Amino acid sequence: MKIAEPIRLPCGVTLKNRLAKSAMSENMAKPGYFAGQEFYNLYKRWAEGGIGLSISGNVMIDRKHLGEANNVVIEEGLDNHQGLKEWASAYGNTGNQIWVQLNHPGRQIPKFLSTDNVSASAVPFDKPMDTMFATPRTLTEGEILDIIQRFGYAAKVVKDCGFGGVQIHGAHGYLVAQFLSPKTNIREDRWGGSIENRMLFVIEVYNSIRKNVGEKFPVGIKINTADFQKGGFSHEEAIQVTKKLSTLGIDLIELSGGTYEKPTMTGVKVKESTQKREAYFLEYAKDIKQAVNCPIMVTGGFRTGKFMEESLDNGDLDMVGLARPVAINPEFPNQLLGGENVESEVKPLTSGFKILDSIYPLEIIWYTDQLHRMGKLKEPRKNGGIYSSIFNMTCSMGFQILNRVRS
Ligand SMILES: Cc1cc2nc3c(=O)[nH]c(=O)nc-3n(C[C@H](O)[C@H](O)[C@H](O)COP(=O)(O)O)c2cc1C
Repeated sequence: MKIAEPIRLPCGVTLKNRLAKSAMSENMAKPGYFAGQEFYNLYKRWAEGGIGLSISGNVMIDRKHLGEANNVVIEEGLDNHQGLKEWASAYGNTGNQIWVQLNHPGRQIPKFLSTDNVSASAVPFDKPMDTMFATPRTLTEGEILDIIQRFGYAAKVVKDCGFGGVQIHGAHGYLVAQFLSPKTNIREDRWGGSIENRMLFVIEVYNSIRKNVGEKFPVGIKINTADFQKGGFSHEEAIQVTKKLSTLGIDLIELSGGTYEKPTMTGVKVKESTQKREAYFLEYAKDIKQAVNCPIMVTGGFRTGKFMEESLDNGDLDMVGLARPVAINPEFPNQLLGGENVESEVKPLTSGFKILDSIYPLEIIWYTDQLHRMGKLKEPRKNGGIYSSIFNMTCSMGFQILNRVRS
């Protein structure tokens, strides 16, 4: 079985199998941006479930720029490394790995967290998202260099604390993606204009990380196959950027798509035909796979063992990314590896009101609730209702949870 085969990354590290848990923001840091016991419990659960690689939910590199409430932050001067070390140890001796996803939200900070958002350029959100997110201000050259250095520092901490690797969040409309997109990057200096200039930020972030962690530590990126937005980062540009990153020595490219304004990453706002077939981004990923020399992981919509195996066999990708399936069933990887003809029980969630569903992804709250349950050593509640999750999460996180938009 292909999914059970190990894979060697360009840096020389080998991952145990072809199944990876894609990032899901945990939103459960303690005061001080501290990853407490719940992180250990949750990731231990996934480790025991057999997944070869677990990528953490996004960890921020600046406490003044959070994507959501209760994010973990890695930043100079923060005394939270003990929590990170314990979290990193959750895989024990399973041979599986945890990588940390590093992120800067740029303009995608909900207003309730801050109105001092920054971005490549001062481009406001489309309606109706502009009610939830303030118009950002344009980053100065000095601020851009500071952010690049922060990514490098955070990656070094990730390595020193014992994690297996690091992933740059370059997808879903966050800061790296804001620099890549001609819709949000209208700068006229060396960071904007042509795609060569727009990709300079991600290249410098990668270089800064690599300089800090060395050649033998895995460094990956999650990036969009396209933003699927008019005037946004196009598929042709995604091919160019991934090709460049692969030349520079990136170890794993995870492919996704969409932004907060066009949330195709979880299958929302994709064509019905795309939703019905598995793997929303597979067709786009095939082009990228042909253009690069490093392993490709594709995330979004994979549900059956049969299709995962077929896609790997066809050489369309090297790793399968799974998010919601392992949020409701942490044992799913072991079941897939056991060779059963397994199918995930993930199904579309609805509030019962079409309008509400179209403006607000309540399912994100529901899935976060499942992560919190596992963090407390409880079982995920596969058949729990959406309103009881909103109630639980409001009790544990306060009304901030209702401001979650993501992913
Ligand atoms: C609750 C939740 C939180 C998420 N948080 C993140 C995140 O922090 N970083 C990220 O890159 N993607 C995030 N995602 C997106 C997933 O990684 C993945 O791309 C998406 O859910 C599609 O995969 P799936 O169909 O296997 O769920 C999140 C998704 C969910 C459901």
